[in-house]
Amino acid sequence: MRFELVTIFPEFVETLRVGLLGKAMDAGTLEVVARSPREATTDKHRSVDAAPYGGGSGMVLMPGPIAETLEALDAERATPSRKILLTPQGTRFDQRTAERLAQEPCVTLVCGRYEGFDERIRGMVDEEISLGDFVLLGGEIAAATIVEAVGRLAPGVLGNAESACEESHTTGILEYPHYTRPSEFRGQEVPAILKSGDHAAIARWRRKEALRRTRDRRPDLLETAALDATDRKLLAELEAEEDR
Ligand SMILES: C[S@@+](CC[C@H](N)C(=O)[O-])C[C@H]1O[C@@H](n2cnc3c(N)ncnc32)[C@H](O)[C@@H]1O
Repeated sequence: MRFELVTIFPEFVETLRVGLLGKAMDAGTLEVVARSPREATTDKHRSVDAAPYGGGSGMVLMPGPIAETLEALDAERATPSRKILLTPQGTRFDQRTAERLAQEPCVTLVCGRYEGFDERIRGMVDEEISLGDFVLLGGEIAAATIVEAVGRLAPGVLGNAESACEESHTTGILEYPHYTRPSEFRGQEVPAILKSGDHAAIARWRRKEALRRTRDRRPDLLETAALDATDRKLLAELEAEEDR
């Protein structure tokens, strides 16, 4: 899978070259390239921004350099690309969006800076995505988040194919608690069932704890999660335990 970052800080792409993502980039499983819209400029100062019409503070990214960068990227590859504008005005990014984008052969992420984009840039992309209801200085951190969340779903990136399956949000609920060595830490014991070797009992405990955690922290997720009869029984058990 290929990611393209359109950013005035193309060196940012190297910050992604760590851990499993870095390994996948080195192995060629994931290709991540960055292009600066400054490359498309011809003036002495390589300007990509200008003052807003109508006045006001800050600078605005001009449409020309972004359009030419997107066209140059299109000419570089045989596959189409899903083009995304990163903006706090976009649709909130979530795991479902990550799963959808992981089906694409290429995702192009257009990173803003300054006051943001000339409005005509919006017509050059397929969708607009926000990381959340806050304002960053630029789109690069948002792009990095999307590359990690989507890239880890691409075939061959995660070592153990199953490790993505039970993660929080993948199944629609939060994941169960994890424990590792030591068995006792400052008076806190690992739940005995996890050391029992009884795989069925462990699976049941984990599912119940995942449901407990979701109910306590994100009850909204239970309204849309695909719960089966066993899940409903486990939730009823949790309620009954608390009524006691
Ligand atoms: C300072 S922001 C501009 C915000 C813009 N003036 C507005 O009010 O919508 C500069 C750039 O950072 C990126 N950015 C900021 N917050 C973001 C968020 N929550 N999600 C995605 N990108 C964001 C966008 O690319 C944006 O163009």
